[in-house]
Order: sequence, then structure tokens, then C-alpha cells
Amino acid sequence: MSDPAWEAVDSYISDLLVPEDDDLRAVHEANATAGLPAIDVAPNQGKLLHLLARLAGARAVLEIGTLGGYSTIWLARAVGPQGRVVTLEFAPHHAEVARANLERAGVADRVDVRVGRALDTLPTVESDGLGPFDLVFIDADKKSTADYVRWAVRLGRPGTVVILDNAIWDGAVADLDSADLDALGVRAGLEEMARNPRLEATAIQTVGVKGWDGFALAVVT
Ligand code: SAH
Ligand code: DHB
Ligand code: MG
Repeated sequence: MSDPAWEAVDSYISDLLVPEDDDLRAVHEANATAGLPAIDVAPNQGKLLHLLARLAGARAVLEIGTLGGYSTIWLARAVGPQGRVVTLEFAPHHAEVARANLERAGVADRVDVRVGRALDTLPTVESDGLGPFDLVFIDADKKSTADYVRWAVRLGRPGTVVILDNAIWDGAVADLDSADLDALGVRAGLEEMARNPRLEATAIQTVGVKGWDGFALAVVT
């Protein structure tokens, strides 16, 4: 579900507060040329991730779900030249496009793109000692969301910020009759945030160019 009025307000906000530079604009073009789906976060959402990472003073960020690296660039800019972003992507083609986009944006040296199913690469992130992470952004396959939330706690420390994209999924998370596997996956992730004694969480609905969706936000205790 989308709405022209929501899109007009997103355009207003983005034009006023989040004008994209050439490197961010180039990501959209490169992704479209390479046939990647346009499911990256919106500009104002990317800036929100960037600001949350700065507020947290994050130097080590883990992202699950890279696509073309649009959100990755916002996060990489937040950690600064001494910081590090590890981003996990299943599709080799997406990872290749992301690496080129990160290179063009001048942040490739601080980003480690790891290719494979995240549930397979997360153990290597742990065994390579890349944590603890200051912020974890979860934005990959929705069916594994609860597992990713558990991994975020495992690879975090007290104070780690956990952000979950697509937390509302067009309202389907609150539809108890939903048989949509993505919605059920997101709901399992929210339930994990509620149940896990090491997390304090909330979720916020959003509307805009991405339709009706939202973010869940948690802190590791
Ligand atoms: N964070 C990106 C958008 C990610 S879209 C942005 O805002 O710019 C979701 C991505 O997760 C897709 O590229 C998809 O290929 C990837 N993905 C799907 N299943 C995955 C898995 N099991 N492990 C890692 N990545 C996965
Ligand atoms: C889809 C995935 C996303 O992460 C997103 O933000 C929007 C849509 C999708 O798989 O359709
Ligand atoms: Mg998403």
C-alpha cells in the first residue's frame, strides 16, 4: 500500500533535510542498471540510520542484507575513517554491485562485504573476532529475523543498538490470521525482541515512498 500524499511528504523531507550527493544518487542508477530491486531504505531512512549510529558513537557496525550498499554507505559515513562496517549479502551479484558503489563513494576501505547466507557467515564474523558491534542493522530475508535478533545480541555488548527494517510489513505483523511467511518472520523477530531478557525494544510505524512499514529499535542490556 502506498499513497501519493505520503510520497509528496517524503520528497519534501528529503529535498529539505537529506539532499543526496552524487555518490548516493549513483547508487540508485547503478542498482537499476544492474537489475537490483529498488528495496533499499529511503533517503530519510538512510539518514536516520546514520544519525542513530552517530548518536551511539558507533565505530563497529554489522549490517545483515547489503543489496547495493545504499544503507551501507550511510552507516559507513557514520563510523568515520577509523570505523568498520561488516555487511552480509547472500547474492554474489548484489555484493559485486555494492562493492563498486562503496568504492565510488570512497568508503570501500572501511567496509567488509561478506557473501553467503547470513546464517552461514555470522559464525565466521564471530570466529574472526569482528565484534562486539556497537550497532546492528537487520534488513535481509524476513523469515530469519528472530535468528538475526539473537545473533545481534550474541555479537553485541551492553549498549549495542539493534535496528530492524520492515518491522510493520504493510500492517501484516498485526494480522494474526496472516499466512504471509515474511510477516510471520518479522513478527517472530519482534516477539524475540519482547521475550529476550537482554533486549529493551520498541517499534515505530512509518509511511512514505516505501509504503506503510516501520523500524523496530532495541538496546542490548
Ligand atoms: N540494506 C539494504 C537493502 C537490503 S535488501 C539497503 O537499504 O540499501 C535485502 C538484501 O538481503 C537483498 O540484497 C538480499 O539478496 C539479501 N538477502 C536475502 N536473504 C539473505 C540471507 N539469507 N543472507 C544474507 N542476505 C540475504
Ligand atoms: C522487501 C525487502 C525489504 O528489505 C524492504 O525494505 C522492502 C521490501 C521485499 O523483499 O519485498
Ligand atoms: Mg528493508
